[in-house]
Amino acid sequence: MTSIDKARLKAQAIDTIKGNDLGSYTVPTRGLYPFQWNWDSCLTALGFAHFDEGRAWTEIETLFANQWPDGMVPHIVFHVYSDGYFPGPNVWQTGRPTPTSGITQPPVAGFALRRLFERVTDRDAAARRAKALLPKVDAWHSWFHAARDPGDEGLIAILHPWESGRDNSIDWDEPFARVPTEGVTPYVRRDTDHADPAHRPTKEQYDRYLWLVEHFRSLGWDNSKLHDASPFRVVDPGFNAILIRSEQDLAAIARALGETEIAERNERRATEGLAALEGLWSEAHGQYLCRDRVAGKLIDSASIGGLLPAIAAIAPARAAAIARRIEQQGERLDYVVASHDPADPRFEAKRYWRGPAWLITNYLIADGLAAAGETATADRMVAASLELIARSGFAEYYDTRTGEPCGGGSFSWTAAMVLEFLGD
Ligand code: GLC
Repeated sequence: MTSIDKARLKAQAIDTIKGNDLGSYTVPTRGLYPFQWNWDSCLTALGFAHFDEGRAWTEIETLFANQWPDGMVPHIVFHVYSDGYFPGPNVWQTGRPTPTSGITQPPVAGFALRRLFERVTDRDAAARRAKALLPKVDAWHSWFHAARDPGDEGLIAILHPWESGRDNSIDWDEPFARVPTEGVTPYVRRDTDHADPAHRPTKEQYDRYLWLVEHFRSLGWDNSKLHDASPFRVVDPGFNAILIRSEQDLAAIARALGETEIAERNERRATEGLAALEGLWSEAHGQYLCRDRVAGKLIDSASIGGLLPAIAAIAPARAAAIARRIEQQGERLDYVVASHDPADPRFEAKRYWRGPAWLITNYLIADGLAAAGETATADRMVAASLELIARSGFAEYYDTRTGEPCGGGSFSWTAAMVLEFLGD
């Protein structure tokens, strides 16, 4: 076991975030991701709260200043032009005043907001800034239900793998096969200039990513059309659980600030969502699975998306089963939690979301498991996370068998999670 110098790690984490700070927003890491990413920013705000509370609020405010009129909060905001990333604003063509992408990302904002609201020492600022953000986050949640659950199933679908935040997960292989690759405008990837191509999605996956972008663009990014027009519509348990948790957390802030209507709406949706989530449980896998909404069936892929529901108020028996899945992984791997079941032959140790461990998913799952009383597993995850950092630095993700750093380096949200794990 690597010995851990906590004070040193903390100082390095703060330096990492400061190094990616562009004033009113942070980039995930310089080079590979030169813009503002949605859920990176919300989780990075939690890191800022440990050393600069005002800056923590600003991070989320900047993101929501770029919310669309229909309520969607885009997955990327292209504040300053850079040709170091593909696809850039000229591919998306969303027509926003500050260019943005046209799809969204896991809605951790409500969750992060409550954490900030309850933790910061400047209580006046907390009340004022949370109150201003409250209706915006609520509008985003409403947008999900209107645009991504038109059939009123209680769960929302993602229309692009990038929305999940788990870009190349094995979860998408089957539904993604339905997405054509013909007719995609020729392009040059930039991600493989910054990271090892063996750690990144394949060319075939990129063609399909781009086909969907061009398809949605041809529909004028009209969210009243995209859901039904997309050949890719997947109900991801992790994504939905994050939405449910954020609805509960937003409701708690709304109650504290006397915004009863927002509180009730979000509580109701969370309750409905929790009930509907049960339909994604697989007894055979001992975890949740994605549902292919086009094919109308569960996807046989035991990924971390099916463990993330620990973050929502699922039944104690479900949380216990998720803890067991993680303990099983621990028998094969040194560093939990793998982004895909290591017992599955499709597991790839170094390829992005097809195997490696990520600190943000460790954080979200550990938070839920600790709240459910599964403290031994939660503690194990925190210890594994800090060991990864001490050994391999603030990487994008890690090989769960060797602890090797993968993808990009100096990552903002990895650093923020370290500050969260270390506490004050
Ligand atoms: C990748 C990740 C996504 C993240 C983004 C920026 O696309 O899959 O979750 O938000 O990088 O770090």
